Amino acid sequence: MAIPAHYIQELLQRNNVTDVIGGHVHLKRHGRIYKGLCPFHSEKTPSFTVYPDTQSYYCFGCGAGGDIISFTKEINGLTYVEAVKMLAQQSGMPLPDEDDKVSKLKSRIYEMNKLAARYFHANLNSEKGKNARIYLRQRQLSDKTIVNFGLGYASDGWQDLTNYLKSKGYTEEEMVSAYLAARSSKGNVYDIFRDRIIFPIIDLRGNVIAFGGRRMGDEGGPKYLNSGDTPVFKKSNGLFALNLAKKSGKDTFILAEGYMDVISLHQAGFNNAVATLGTALTSQQAKLIADYAKNVVISYDSDEAGQKATRRAMEIFSKEDVAVSVLQMDGAKDPDEYIKKFGRNSFENLIDKANSALDFELQKLKNQYNIKDTQGRIDYLTKACDILAKIPSPVLQDVYCSRLAEETNADKASIKLQLEQSRSRYYRNSSYKRNKELLKEGVAGSTKVDYRQQGNTLPKVVAQQNIIGMLIRDNELFDMVNTQLKEEDFTDANMRSAFTQYKKLKAEGYDVGYALLCHYLDGDTRKELAKINAGKADIITTAEDMQMHINNLKSAPMGQSEIKSASVEELAKRIESLKEKKK
Ligand code: GTP
Ligand code: MN
Repeated sequence: MAIPAHYIQELLQRNNVTDVIGGHVHLKRHGRIYKGLCPFHSEKTPSFTVYPDTQSYYCFGCGAGGDIISFTKEINGLTYVEAVKMLAQQSGMPLPDEDDKVSKLKSRIYEMNKLAARYFHANLNSEKGKNARIYLRQRQLSDKTIVNFGLGYASDGWQDLTNYLKSKGYTEEEMVSAYLAARSSKGNVYDIFRDRIIFPIIDLRGNVIAFGGRRMGDEGGPKYLNSGDTPVFKKSNGLFALNLAKKSGKDTFILAEGYMDVISLHQAGFNNAVATLGTALTSQQAKLIADYAKNVVISYDSDEAGQKATRRAMEIFSKEDVAVSVLQMDGAKDPDEYIKKFGRNSFENLIDKANSALDFELQKLKNQYNIKDTQGRIDYLTKACDILAKIPSPVLQDVYCSRLAEETNADKASIKLQLEQSRSRYYRNSSYKRNKELLKEGVAGSTKVDYRQQGNTLPKVVAQQNIIGMLIRDNELFDMVNTQLKEEDFTDANMRSAFTQYKKLKAEGYDVGYALLCHYLDGDTRKELAKINAGKADIITTAEDMQMHINNLKSAPMGQSEIKSASVEELAKRIESLKEKKK
């Protein structure tokens, strides 16, 4: 949805940056700026800074930076539009009108999806669905399960669904945008799901938002085919069976890898199981799970890929407010197979025995060493202490020290000593890293440049950053820049897009501050500008300074790659302007 600039401008005027951020961070005033502990990384001394002048924030510790919308978005895990809506609500503004066309298409897609799901489901009981029925029986799914999940069958024709939806008044374009049909190179539309078992994906409001389709035999394309992103569906946000797991009312969720695992689990009474849609867990999905559950048991496949995915998922969950444990399965490749082989009670046992994430890590570590051997034992204990050093609770550390002592027959006091060493090394490292960051960022006046922008293009990039940084603070300087520089003079892609957008907004008559400009920039540019702002907080911008930066940009040496790609005319112009300067 495109939100118009005037709406954003009003939103920014109604919401003060210190109020918005002050609701989450305890801010202390230091002259014209405010400081507090960064909510985006853990720190003991404040490096998170808020600048009322530019309505921006920047953290010298972790580099997080932006305006009130990006803050609201990140702190609450919202999308951009959701963040805008939240701020609008808080400040008593009417919500931005959704683009009428988009919202109409969305409701058409919901309708089509519902019709398609019913159509697929009805196919199961028709003549065409005989093989599908046999397949589902083989997989031991009961009628109740099939109905509960609304499973279906997409028949083997090229236009079965397409024709059906046409008869209901939907256009080919609508079917394509719903990811139910695709267009051939000749321009004909055809069904995407053919001869497959269909798993509808349903959101928390009961809307069918997407489909997964499994082939029944060994041939016929990929094993699973999933809907791509559509106006009503984002794969990276979706979770299979979240609607059912939420209804279970349980505060523990089971996270499995596959559709069939989830279905088997539900059939066996574990109605709190969910799965991602054939992709690795994303932070949005982890947040969603944490919204509805206090605990999550990761029950991925027992093969190497599954174990690797488990570690990644643990890491992603570690940033959320949810307790994680890991289920370990022997003798079966996935929960579906396990339940069929050993029964539901055995699986229940596995859940009860599921290790905490910490246990899981220590267990993995232990498997790497032979602790009967002295050196192996020492190595294991040293590495284990490195892991324990990172947990904040001393009580928990003590519990684990006792356990390690018992396990290895070592003296608990010496393990604690070792742990102390690991702890001070860990803290030294993290504070060293932070100091290095601070030095790199430079709280001093001028803007420092990222290490990635190396070599002799450096002065040019600095000049561009200075120019944009000053323009944001003082719109009066725009004319002098605009008369002397063209968009192409901004060789840094981020600064160029900032300049282009700035110019556009100026042309529309806006007073362009940092926050308004942000609305039109990608995340990287937004952060980079927040950093530039942070470096300029104590500086008064003057026309003389601006002229100096403009001159610097025009005369700074070209980088090697620029020289190579520059045209003869450009080079000639360059030489002229250098001569001019010498005079
Ligand atoms: P069964 O083999 O029927 O037991 O399915 P499963 O759910 O156990 O699937 P598997 O463990 O092989 O894969 C886990 C999940 O990854 C599936 O549920 C799908 O979401 C996804 N997936 C598997 N194969 C494919 C594929 O070929 N393409 C895509 N896009 N996703 C796949
Ligand atoms: Mn399986």
